[in-house]
Amino acid sequence: MCGIVGYVGKKNSSDIVLDGLKTLEYRGYDSWGIAVNDNGKLDVFKKVGEINIKKVPLPKTSSAIGHTRWATHGGVNEINAHPHFSTRRDFVLAQNGIVENYQDLKGKLIMKGYTFDTETDTEVIVRLIEEKRKSNETLKDSVRDAFNELEGRNTVIVLDSSKEDHIIAVRNGSPLVLGIGKDGIFLASDALAFAKYTKDVVFLDNYDLVEINGNEFKIYDAKSGIRKEYKVTKLNNKIKGISKGKYSHFMIKEIVEQKDTVLKAAEYSEDDLKAIIEAVRNANRVYITGAGTAGFASGQIAYYLRNIAKVDALDVRSYDFETFLPILTKNDLVIAVSQSGETADTIEILEFAKEKGCKIGCIVNVEGSTIHRMSDYKYLIHAGPEICVASTKVFTSQCVFGYLLAKSMVNEYKEAKSYIQDLSDGLSDYFNEKSFKHIKKLAKKIKDNEHFFILGKGQNSYISLEGALKVKEISYKHFEGFSAGELKHGVIALVEDDTPVFSIISDDKDSKDIISATEEVKARGAFTVGVGDSKFKNESCFKYFLPTASNKELSGLANVVAFQLLSYFLADSLGNSIDKPRNLAKSVTVK
Ligand code: G6P
Repeated sequence: MCGIVGYVGKKNSSDIVLDGLKTLEYRGYDSWGIAVNDNGKLDVFKKVGEINIKKVPLPKTSSAIGHTRWATHGGVNEINAHPHFSTRRDFVLAQNGIVENYQDLKGKLIMKGYTFDTETDTEVIVRLIEEKRKSNETLKDSVRDAFNELEGRNTVIVLDSSKEDHIIAVRNGSPLVLGIGKDGIFLASDALAFAKYTKDVVFLDNYDLVEINGNEFKIYDAKSGIRKEYKVTKLNNKIKGISKGKYSHFMIKEIVEQKDTVLKAAEYSEDDLKAIIEAVRNANRVYITGAGTAGFASGQIAYYLRNIAKVDALDVRSYDFETFLPILTKNDLVIAVSQSGETADTIEILEFAKEKGCKIGCIVNVEGSTIHRMSDYKYLIHAGPEICVASTKVFTSQCVFGYLLAKSMVNEYKEAKSYIQDLSDGLSDYFNEKSFKHIKKLAKKIKDNEHFFILGKGQNSYISLEGALKVKEISYKHFEGFSAGELKHGVIALVEDDTPVFSIISDDKDSKDIISATEEVKARGAFTVGVGDSKFKNESCFKYFLPTASNKELSGLANVVAFQLLSYFLADSLGNSIDKPRNLAKSVTVK
């Protein structure tokens, strides 16, 4: 949901900011813009669409800010793109978030004679700072005063023209990380944006205000205005610049990486897991929560905890958690599942849970993210940066961690590790031209259909939901996943001649039910596709079969990979944008 970058230093600032924005495009790619301070004159370059240029036509300077937008207020055009000028063009500002009281503020500013050029809520912040300048000596205090009147989760960055190399930024809700390098000081929504220049970072807290003046910076508490101490953290050395390598898209690269990432997620010793095992054991109930793909991973993890460890574990989508708050007690444990660790709905629920006195655990991919920092039990899945908006490797990693946890609770840690190794080996064998060809052939066959259904049960129940989500995100086709048991209660009414129906089948107790459900849709003319254990490939109910790296208790995770590949090849054959699908953003930091 929008990416922010700022830089002051020896290098050409617009190059650094452009490079950073390219890394942050996963956060929004409607439009983008960069502003530089050229000897006291601010120069802005904005563009609609993805960032596809190597250099911006801006003068060489030592300070710049930039923004990549995922529109919330106001259409996608250059006027609404950030950064936004102040009326006197003496500062520019970019924002990540939503000013929830913007209409109220705008009304008051209009009464005072301010005019607005854009439809954004961002411009309200700009004008409010202008208003605050009347009663404040410094731009920093004006930004602070204005910021304290904003409602909602907002992070802003301001470039000043009155002083050389002067940037002010304030964080609330949406992430902001400061990087301290030998060639300059960096600010970004994600440390990835500058990870190739420095590993020394300060993860800013909510209401931290940073002021960069040349090669120095100071951090203040935005509420009180008092100077704050800060902690410098060393980023994991392995985080480097990101590239697609030999692949044509990040999505396929990330899908294939799963043969390794499933192992990385399980690189925890029994000792490392003790704290969370203890917390799960002592909890009255364990709530697992997340949104989107992370919400489905929560479902799969809760399934493992219930069915393997016999724990009272319930998954609740974070955006719906409010309806569970009346029964949440301080003896419950809430575990958040999130790739970014910055999803607004999930953070909000954790804040409520903390207020109730609950302990918080997390299964996240981004170190130092808000959810990571606010948790009592922190577990990183070490999947490495995931760039494609549609999540693949992170889903399987989160589930693998949940599986390892559940197995460890019943003293089956070693068995879990060996099954995870089998999954990794199975995936290594599976990623070959032959499997890809088979899936591509299917993609070609079904690409003109509009409606698709996916049946799952037991360990494949959430896989059917995640499988459907994956395909719809990239192919824009209507895919619906549901539990096979639901079929007769309505969905079967939608099945007609040639409707593709996918049935996920593992070698487990649910296979019989899946076969019966498939027979029922076949009898109504469906084009039935089995996805799963090759043992079933000759079952007469299936008209097409996609064998997977199906693997005992982790069969569901092997099966989801087939849908990730189907999604990829289907979107490719339709000519869709794969890594950046329309309307979506990878990190949803606004509500
Ligand atoms: C967006 C992304 C999904 C992701 C979800 C939750 O919808 O497109 O891929 O699963 O947000 O994000 P999180 O960072 O919390 O996993």
